[in-house]
Amino acid sequence: MAKGLRIRDSLSADLAAIESLYPEAFPDEDLLPLVRDLLADEAITTSLVGVIDSQIVGHVIFTKCGLNGEPANASLLGPLAVTPARHGQGIGSALVRAGLQRLKDNSVSIVCVLGDPAFYGRLGFLLATSVWPPYRLPPEYDAAWQSQELNDTALANSGELSIPKQWQQPSLWIS
Ligand SMILES: CC(C)(COP(=O)(O)OP(=O)(O)OC[C@H]1O[C@@H](n2cnc3c(N)ncnc32)[C@H](O)[C@@H]1OP(=O)(O)O)[C@@H](O)C(=O)NCCC(=O)NCCS
Repeated sequence: MAKGLRIRDSLSADLAAIESLYPEAFPDEDLLPLVRDLLADEAITTSLVGVIDSQIVGHVIFTKCGLNGEPANASLLGPLAVTPARHGQGIGSALVRAGLQRLKDNSVSIVCVLGDPAFYGRLGFLLATSVWPPYRLPPEYDAAWQSQELNDTALANSGELSIPKQWQQPSLWIS
């Protein structure tokens, strides 16, 4: 893991640094509107930053979701970004692990993610079979829709993930 890495909740004072991180990490995709909208709703988000020497080097958001239109102890991971100069130093993994631990402590029972299984599989995510995404994904994304049970409540975790309005944009799911 990167030397000196500290992970903490993001603060409103971190916004400028977070806003410069995303275009660097995602040069071909503008995730800033989503990130801003999610950060504006603290009641539904867990937002963590990775900090080294007072510099923000990574950021992740977990959003509270429901199942089948009902409240549930479910969460959606994303976006996740690490500053390119620091890729491959364990920062992304550390952010995800810290977030998962936080959610587990808060009785969240399932976390979903749409992402590369080569990365998320190392962090305990498996192909999601009991929870399906809010939009029909193209077949080439089948392996990308993953989930992880955090507490032993598997029977309660089935159905369609219900996402808050910030995530209700097909372009975020089917690019
Ligand atoms: C994806 C990302 C968050 C990973 O963060 P990171 O700090 O570089 O990752 P870590 O150092 O914790 O893990 C690195 C390992 O994951 C692998 N990895 C990193 N990104 C990957 C990706 N997109 N797909 C597959 N494997 C990936 C690396 O090859 C490395 O494996 P190794 O240790 O065997 O060499 C970072 O590369 C990033 O910000 N990328 C651009 C934004 C992005 O794609 N975010 C969404 C992720 S779905």
